[in-house]
Amino acid sequence: MKFNNCWSYTIFFLLPCFCSAQSFVGAGKAVDPYQLNIVKEQQYSSGAVVSAHPIASRVGAEVLKMGGNAIDAGIATQLALAVVYPGAGNIGGGGFLVAKMKGAKAIALDYRETAPGKSGRDMYLDANGRAQTDLSQNGHLASGVPGTVAGLFASMKWAKLPFKTLIAPAILLAENGFCLTAGEAEKLNDRAGSFKKYNTVLPVFVQKRWKKGDTLFQKDLAKTLRRISDKGSAGFYEGETARLIVAEMQRGKGVITLNDLKSYRAKERPALIFNYKGHEVITMPPPSSGGVLLMQMLKMVEKRPLAGYGFQTAKSVQLMTEVERRAYADRAEHLGDPDFWKVPVSTITSDRYLAKRMLDYDSTKAGSSAAIGAGTVESLETTHISIMDRWGNMVSITTTLNGTFGSKTVVGGAGFLLNNEMDDFSLKPGVPNMYGAVGGEANAIAPRKRMLSSMSPTILLKNGEPYVVVGTPGGTTIPTSVFQTIINLVDFKMSPADAVNKPKFHHQWLPDELQVEEGFSPEVRKTLEQMGYTVKTYGVTGYASTIGRVELILYDKGKLVAVGDYRGDDSVSGY
Ligand code: DON
Repeated sequence: MKFNNCWSYTIFFLLPCFCSAQSFVGAGKAVDPYQLNIVKEQQYSSGAVVSAHPIASRVGAEVLKMGGNAIDAGIATQLALAVVYPGAGNIGGGGFLVAKMKGAKAIALDYRETAPGKSGRDMYLDANGRAQTDLSQNGHLASGVPGTVAGLFASMKWAKLPFKTLIAPAILLAENGFCLTAGEAEKLNDRAGSFKKYNTVLPVFVQKRWKKGDTLFQKDLAKTLRRISDKGSAGFYEGETARLIVAEMQRGKGVITLNDLKSYRAKERPALIFNYKGHEVITMPPPSSGGVLLMQMLKMVEKRPLAGYGFQTAKSVQLMTEVERRAYADRAEHLGDPDFWKVPVSTITSDRYLAKRMLDYDSTKAGSSAAIGAGTVESLETTHISIMDRWGNMVSITTTLNGTFGSKTVVGGAGFLLNNEMDDFSLKPGVPNMYGAVGGEANAIAPRKRMLSSMSPTILLKNGEPYVVVGTPGGTTIPTSVFQTIINLVDFKMSPADAVNKPKFHHQWLPDELQVEEGFSPEVRKTLEQMGYTVKTYGVTGYASTIGRVELILYDKGKLVAVGDYRGDDSVSGY
């Protein structure tokens, strides 16, 4: 759709001057920032990108068309999302990238935020030892040291195109503006109160009441992106941007220092790799809990006749729920940043251990978790990007500010939002975070430690060949959403679109309740209640009631089938 109230420009992709004139690509039909054409499913022959926003997916696809590989497209798409999807796309947050480049070893890159040097395990407890979740969720003290920009530069190791080419579309989108979708306009309006409350300099987001088709300009963000383009990682972690971040911290009683920023490093970790029914699953190890949980859950169902039980029958949902309960109980006890806590990954994913975990499984009634108060459910937003290119390279990236718009604090003069990732630590044993997840010592706060995540960027190979790239946002529901999408494809043999769009359900040990999406069968719900489950419809009034927003690409007989979740503005692009 073209919006008449917007002036128009087109982003041409321009390689630096040492390249020939042929390097201009897509002239006249490259990315149009006023074209909000959401495409949910499409087949491509050469390359595909799925992300939370149609403009960002187009940016990634254009990079593929001009000869970039899936890593190049991943970098450009993340940067574009930081502009057009400020609720979760970011440079002030962190993320994980899992990739399998043709013929090479799997890659797992960790650019999760870290606790600032001046943080401490009790920093969010008041004098009476009560957890102050407003401080871990909103405003300056909620932010971990951002990792995204370090992650982008660490990914350049596998890129083909110059960084300046990959960041150029984001700079133009920030400087010259882009049209808001209805959903994005509404989200900005909803948060106007928070933006006023948690900022020392009013951000552009509160300029007006937004409506679909309005143009959002982000001039300060454009300047920050230009500094990154000119100076590389130092354009963010040092110099003017770092100075602006620290000045913002000082105005708002935050604790991130110049030294915290300068010493931040992204880390390559050994990818977590296992087999599920003949598929090689490649996923993220700690400090995300996502890969370990995914492996535990898939292994606990692998030898049981799930397909025979049928999709979302009481029998299959009950089994998967009990598996989820056990995996999430382990998460609370055993998982944390492996640089600070000995995470027993091989033990808790071993066949022996998992078989033992299921010994007390009873298929006739609900299991039980110890009772504990539920956490408040906030609006949730992270974002996932799935990419495959013409060479068979596969990239899966999940990146986040944590809650929607993170801490809601925009760095004055630098135009980007900071994360509220500190809330992913366990503030105190037994105190639930904003996803209702509890934890203990393994995930206690310590300076420079990475907070435990659930993000699960994942890749599947079949007979050693590319098969699936998958991932989703959704806080603690991420591992269950990826688990259920894989089960839908492998066990229930669903089409890619059904595997993504069918209703989901979620159990995370505590609170001891089964959460189901609207659309989940009322009869199955009733049967499960009769078995002793407390079943709740997912979400709270006024917020989204959906579980995850899965972005999937499946390679089948020479075709790339790309699917963006129906649950948002998610959109596919490719060629
Ligand atoms: O790392 C994590 O697990 C969370 N910070 C992710 C947050 C999230 O997925 C919110 N999205 N819907």
